[in-house]
Amino acid sequence: MKRTLGTCYYPEHWPRNIWEEDARRMVEAGLTWVRIGEFAWSRLEPQPNQYDFGWLDEAIDVLGRAGLKIVLGTPTATPPRWMIDRHPDMLAVDAQGRPRKFGSRRHYCFSHEGYKAECVKIVGKLAERYGRNPHIAAWQTDNEYGCHDTTISYSDATRKAFQTWLRARYPSDGNDGDIEALNHAWGNVFWSMDYNDFDQVDLPNLTVTEANPSHSLAFRRFSSDQVVAFNKLQVDLIRANSEAPITHNYMGRITDFDHFKVGEDLDIASWDSYPMGFLEDRVGADNEWQRRFARQGDPDFQAFHHDLYRAVGRGRWWVMEQQPGPVNWAPYNPEPLPGMVRLWTWEAFAHGAEAVCYFRWRQAPIAQEQMHAGLLRPDSIAAPGMDEAIEVANEISSAPDVGLLKSKIALIFDYDADAAWAVQPHGNGLSYFDLVFNQYRALRSLGLSVDILPPNCRDFSGYKLIVAGGLMHMAQELKDALAGSAAEVFVGPRSGARTGDMRIPIPLPPDLPNLDATVARVESLRPDLPVKLIGEGMIEGYREILDGNAEVGLRSEDGSPVVMKANRLSYVGACLDLTGWRSLFRNACAKRNIPIVDLPDAVRIRDTETERFWFNFDPVAHKVDGMTLPPISVTRQELPA
Ligand code: GAL
Repeated sequence: MKRTLGTCYYPEHWPRNIWEEDARRMVEAGLTWVRIGEFAWSRLEPQPNQYDFGWLDEAIDVLGRAGLKIVLGTPTATPPRWMIDRHPDMLAVDAQGRPRKFGSRRHYCFSHEGYKAECVKIVGKLAERYGRNPHIAAWQTDNEYGCHDTTISYSDATRKAFQTWLRARYPSDGNDGDIEALNHAWGNVFWSMDYNDFDQVDLPNLTVTEANPSHSLAFRRFSSDQVVAFNKLQVDLIRANSEAPITHNYMGRITDFDHFKVGEDLDIASWDSYPMGFLEDRVGADNEWQRRFARQGDPDFQAFHHDLYRAVGRGRWWVMEQQPGPVNWAPYNPEPLPGMVRLWTWEAFAHGAEAVCYFRWRQAPIAQEQMHAGLLRPDSIAAPGMDEAIEVANEISSAPDVGLLKSKIALIFDYDADAAWAVQPHGNGLSYFDLVFNQYRALRSLGLSVDILPPNCRDFSGYKLIVAGGLMHMAQELKDALAGSAAEVFVGPRSGARTGDMRIPIPLPPDLPNLDATVARVESLRPDLPVKLIGEGMIEGYREILDGNAEVGLRSEDGSPVVMKANRLSYVGACLDLTGWRSLFRNACAKRNIPIVDLPDAVRIRDTETERFWFNFDPVAHKVDGMTLPPISVTRQELPA
């Protein structure tokens, strides 16, 4: 696989007479890709049904002739103002019932038929016009589905579409759905919530107290399906006209639609990596950690998403937007330490990225992102990120091509489980993402390279250690496949805790093959009331009281079983702290002869087929495992064949 670089460019923001020079400088910097077009709807269709493609024809021509490959974005994240006059009810509606206004972006509802028809028109026109253009080497649909909390909308259009979705989910013999089946599945006898007809089913917002969790989860699944369908609508139009691969740029820690399902319709997954932007409000780390990594970003957060999106792209993935300097949107926006732009870029390549594109080419002197760095300053002088991009461009031109590594360690990530935890966290601050990210951090702190797998994976051959925590609803086939695999398997907490309709299953969870262990009761804990484990680590936030005759693998200091096991299959009935997970995984690695390296918390390893990459996120040097790692550095070590 060849590694490539690129940038995000907005020809419509700049005078025509600098496009040539921009294109030349991109090529000189060693960039291969330029992404354009994704917010340009008001300039492509300035009035309803009046199109102006002239400027885009020219921009594509200029960039393409300079030798760049173009990723053409569909502009559907930014419907123009006139469209709101045509479809006043296309705006997404928030949980308080307020329409979200025009004046920024993503102000549309995925369920609005009129808006979808407008999208079909503009995407169809773009696909027909540019589908065979030799310079268009890839497509991007929309921009960051779900960003700015836009997956879920409580509009009238949504309510109607939800009712239709429910009819199909609870079908009857005739054409209509079976409302009794829905009432039964959701347990609507409780609080007299029975419906007589699907038309009566409203959206689960603005209820007096909590809505029925079965209702809320169904609504989240529906909302996720709407994103999948919206994306597919665009993909079908593009494919009918173009052979170029299609991607979408996902975001960090946006989990409210099923990326695996969107990914099935695409050729490549990509995501937008803003390590310092994410640190304060998405990583979930404490103040001290945030201060320590304020100019570097969290050492595991990007890597987690690299591995996740490699799975979403079934092996093919990019970073579509890489922070090249300070962003404008985090609570604080410091400059990265020198060397970080290079480090982030190499980290993505080490995890298998085919391309890393910097957002953006030139800092914009206008509008919302004036304070967001580009590779160039607003006056076109190179910004510090540019030097590091050029450095990487030089390095990759002489680096050998690499093959993807299949790891020995797997971690399952399930968007549906994330939705179930969001509907019923059971304690303040408990989240599926935090659980899985903590497990991932623990694995990485032992120097392990991790493959993330979707919940419909059934073939676990080759893996020696599999972690499947928090999968609230587990298909029986997944339980069987995990129990039958040759790996050391950790399931739980909350795995198999609910049926597909969000009821407590009987027999009680986890109901794993050949494991005599039952979750008898559960409790959530105040953050200041952790429970000590025997040995190392703590239970934090949530634990289960386990019954049964299976072997106890670990107890808390109060004597209760925390891990129960049979052969290679362990059920973990608690959320552990980092130390707790580390110690469980370390023991499993020792048992299975999986080599580990105990890493300082600012040092991380990622293996490819042929090389080991060492990343030091600290501004001080480290000596680990015989390696000397300079401050803020990428160190490559050849692996024995
Ligand atoms: C991304 C988005 C870009 C730009 C960038 C700023 O989330 O896709 O359009 O807004 O953030 O960091």
